[in-house]
Amino acid sequence: MKVSIIGGAGLVGSCTAFALQTGKVVREIALLDVNADAVGGQALDLLHGATLMADQKISAGGYEHIPSSDVICITAGLRRKPDESRLDLINRNTDLFVGILGEIQKVGYKPDAVVVVVSNPVDILTYVAAQRLKLPPSQVLGLGTVLDTIRFRSLIADKLDAAPTQVSALILGEHGDSMVPIWSSATVGGLPLEKYPGWQPRLADELFTRTKGSGAEVIKKKGGAGFAVGLAIQEVIEAVALDRRCVLPVSSVQSGCYGIRDIAISVPTTVGRKGRLATHEIELWPKEVQGLKRSAQALKETQDVVMARIGGR
Ligand code: 2OP
Repeated sequence: MKVSIIGGAGLVGSCTAFALQTGKVVREIALLDVNADAVGGQALDLLHGATLMADQKISAGGYEHIPSSDVICITAGLRRKPDESRLDLINRNTDLFVGILGEIQKVGYKPDAVVVVVSNPVDILTYVAAQRLKLPPSQVLGLGTVLDTIRFRSLIADKLDAAPTQVSALILGEHGDSMVPIWSSATVGGLPLEKYPGWQPRLADELFTRTKGSGAEVIKKKGGAGFAVGLAIQEVIEAVALDRRCVLPVSSVQSGCYGIRDIAISVPTTVGRKGRLATHEIELWPKEVQGLKRSAQALKETQDVVMARIGGR
């Protein structure tokens, strides 16, 4: 399987490429970027380690890689300022993103290609990509709250000194200010979270607040996320590559899950070679359902503004 990363010179794109190299699953990783020197340097740096990793082809270039790509990952975008919400980014990044989609349409792409949108605001841009590209909406995924979910689980584990790989907890909704913590299904090694040694109800707000603010916290400390977001993207892309059919909270344009339609938002989604294979209305507490609907409403309002602004452009 060939993966092209548009924005491969950037922190997110290069960390994604490194995660895919160490994952040893995909056959080819192509890094694309407007900054030819920087993207060439990232690819060369990765290539130097190839002999210790797997028999993969690693290259750098431009949109000529798109027609032969099985997965097209779009990480290019301007970073959010620490005090800026993701949705505030929208005008700056939408124009850039629409330009990228135009280039993809120009060179053409495989009918079974899966597009993975990472650029923020990811839910809005996932919708735009699904509108613009002639692919079924099931083949246009947004990273959505996969990153928030792994942050949430890792922070819970860190607080409880539990095994991070054994923490199961979900964030659904918008990858942004209205994201929703799903405590109802949170467990550690099968134990309900509230039964785990050291858990106290007051930790819930602290942990969710830290999760929701993690993007801004990382931006403030080091300029932007790289490692965790790269691992989150690897999780999605390798679910496609291996046809894993695992359930991930990726964003995609909904057609009725939890009564949500015509917006891209994260719900529990089975991911395989064809992208979204199914969505699942897992049982939620009433307040979690309300949170999800509020999140959908927030996204719809912004999406309407964006679509009115970019129109048929
Ligand atoms: C984050 O939350 C990049 O939006 C991403 O860090």
